[in-house]
Amino acid sequence: MASSANVHCTNATDKQISYANNSSLQKKVLLKTRPFLEDTIKDMLSKMVPVPCIKVADLGCASGPNTFFPACGIVDIVTRICQEAHCESPELQVFLNDLPKNDFNSVQISGVAGSFYQRLFPTNSFHFVHSSYWLHWLSKVPGGVENKRNVYIAKSSPPNVSKAYFEQFRDDFSRVLRFRSEEMITGGRILLLTSLGLVRESDVDSFNVPYYHPVKKK
Ligand SMILES: C[S@@+](CC[C@H](N)C(=O)[O-])C[C@H]1O[C@@H](n2cnc3c(N)ncnc32)[C@H](O)[C@@H]1O
Repeated sequence: MASSANVHCTNATDKQISYANNSSLQKKVLLKTRPFLEDTIKDMLSKMVPVPCIKVADLGCASGPNTFFPACGIVDIVTRICQEAHCESPELQVFLNDLPKNDFNSVQISGVAGSFYQRLFPTNSFHFVHSSYWLHWLSKVPGGVENKRNVYIAKSSPPNVSKAYFEQFRDDFSRVLRFRSEEMITGGRILLLTSLGLVRESDVDSFNVPYYHPVKKK
């Protein structure tokens, strides 16, 4: 997997196309899903034997306005739940993970550079793993696929293309779950955010993008 750890990093240097300046949609989803985060943590804490330190990881944190958002939210939620229950808040140790090429210079808490398709943490060491908007990043382009004139699954792709992508996703995702299950304590929780709900077919049918790239005819 070493080669895959080089491919999918978001752009941090070019301001116009940087992830930092183009991540407001993900921020909205993080805000909207905050109640799920809260419920998940509440449930975990209510069933867990109290511990002095809760270890939290955010996988695929990027570097930008969203980087600290889930981590700060988790700290706030745990602190508030403990205050409401009149018990002492545990210490929280937060690890932010992304690929080695991520700009960790702007991330000033424990950074874990590495691919989440590998083991990242010691066995039985984590209580809570948060992760938003990375599920679509496969570890690699599926091998053995002839997908001429396309860069992804398209209408003109041969049928084996979407199958190959699906199988790559299934293998990758199984690996993520297997590694995290080894790293997490019994009773720990993992919250994965991808996208909210389904888009209605009629909405897709009625939406067209008004752009056209003129090219010189051959
Ligand atoms: C779209 S960004 C999401 C950032 C942030 N979580 C949010 O919700 O705004 C996806 C991040 O996942 C990271 N990523 C992709 N593949 C990864 C892998 N195999 N291991 C670790 N991070 C990965 C990318 O570098 C990128 O920073």
